[in-house]
Amino acid sequence: TGQVTLDTGFVNTASCVSSITYIDGDQGILRYRGYPIEQLAEQSSFLETSYLLIHGELPTSQQLTEFTNRIQHHTLLHEELRRFFDGFPRDAHPMAVLSSAVSALSTFYQDSLNPFDDEQVEISTIRLMAKVPTIASYAYKKAIGQPMLYPDNSLGYVENFLRMTFGVPATPYEIDPVFVKVLDMLLLLHADHEQNCSTSTVRLVGSSQANLFASVSAGVNALFGPLHGGANQAVLEMLQRIQSDGGDVNAFVRKVKNKEDGVRLMGFGHRVYKNYDPRAALVKKAAQDVLGRMAKPDPLLDLAMQLEEIALADDFFVSRKLYPNVDFYTGLIYKAMGFPTTMFTVLFALGRLPGWIAQWREMINDPDTKIGRPRQVYIGYGQRDYAPIAGR
Ligand code: CMC
Repeated sequence: TGQVTLDTGFVNTASCVSSITYIDGDQGILRYRGYPIEQLAEQSSFLETSYLLIHGELPTSQQLTEFTNRIQHHTLLHEELRRFFDGFPRDAHPMAVLSSAVSALSTFYQDSLNPFDDEQVEISTIRLMAKVPTIASYAYKKAIGQPMLYPDNSLGYVENFLRMTFGVPATPYEIDPVFVKVLDMLLLLHADHEQNCSTSTVRLVGSSQANLFASVSAGVNALFGPLHGGANQAVLEMLQRIQSDGGDVNAFVRKVKNKEDGVRLMGFGHRVYKNYDPRAALVKKAAQDVLGRMAKPDPLLDLAMQLEEIALADDFFVSRKLYPNVDFYTGLIYKAMGFPTTMFTVLFALGRLPGWIAQWREMINDPDTKIGRPRQVYIGYGQRDYAPIAGR
């Protein structure tokens, strides 16, 4: 079978060719389809960037209108799917609910599961983009015991999501335009990041020719972990812990450096970026804007900025090239918007969705795709003889 080399964590193994996202981790560069993330964050929108990722080019205004209208048309969940939410325990983590509900989409849309039929893939794409925000809000409503609100298709993508999440039937919901703009940008910043853990999962599952819903559901589960998408929740919990322990940032940093109980500075470090994550710079600016207009400043922002300053001047972090990543400041913004910590990773999933879809579509259309099947280095016993139970 030839020589097998070991690369745990795939640190130096490319699994595919791709023309979607470019990262230069040493210089802190991120581009979607060639466009710098800074330009997209400032001038594009989440849906336009989703189109770009999925279809390869920025849409014309007619293409964007059609894409947006089709997504708006599919926001409703099947009533039977809505009933699924009654069956989950109330304290279920919304990421677990999200992955289950996305997985269940393949039971409702059996007409669009053929990965090699372009029209079926396109309608699955639209359904996912349309229904995932509805599922996410329902997961939240279930957790807090409020009635679920049907989508309102006269609203934009992010407005609709905010209204379904925070609105109640009794009172009209006033949508804060600053929150809409910032959340749209945060989703855009998360939209793709080449072969990260969840995207590689989507591709690996899809390489067996599993359908798009099944593959994306697997991606949601991969994103759930605290070293990946779960980091945004972990950052806020870390800040809250530091605050409740008296706010001693230096003591916390010492703990991290001594690797006490394996504690890490969450929201710092990245497999690819060995420089400031360009998304983190944009998020930090947005956090200062959003939190700056609050009547009562959030002391956690101050803690986060102190942590960053101390870490960036400390040899432990400098020598390991550990910089803030995209998750370091996002949680503070989500908190200011009213999201509970358990919803943070769900927001990451909403953002990453077009990236998963684009990568899955690239994978399925690549004639060189083979089923993903890593090798191993076996270190167990050689052959030995079975011992009857009485003699063990
Ligand atoms: N705090 C303290 N030490 C760290 C951290 C951190 N956040 N990250 C890495 N290190 C140390 C690590 O202990 C190791 O030190 P040593 O050489 O002494 O053993 C060295 O830096 C290299 O770390 P690694 O674990 O080999 O690096 P990796 O590329 O395998 O891990 C990472 C990347 C993102 C999992 C890691 O940096 C980490 O755990 N960060 C905290 C969690 C986090 O913020 N994740 C979000 C990542 S960005 C968005 C996303 O993907 O979801």
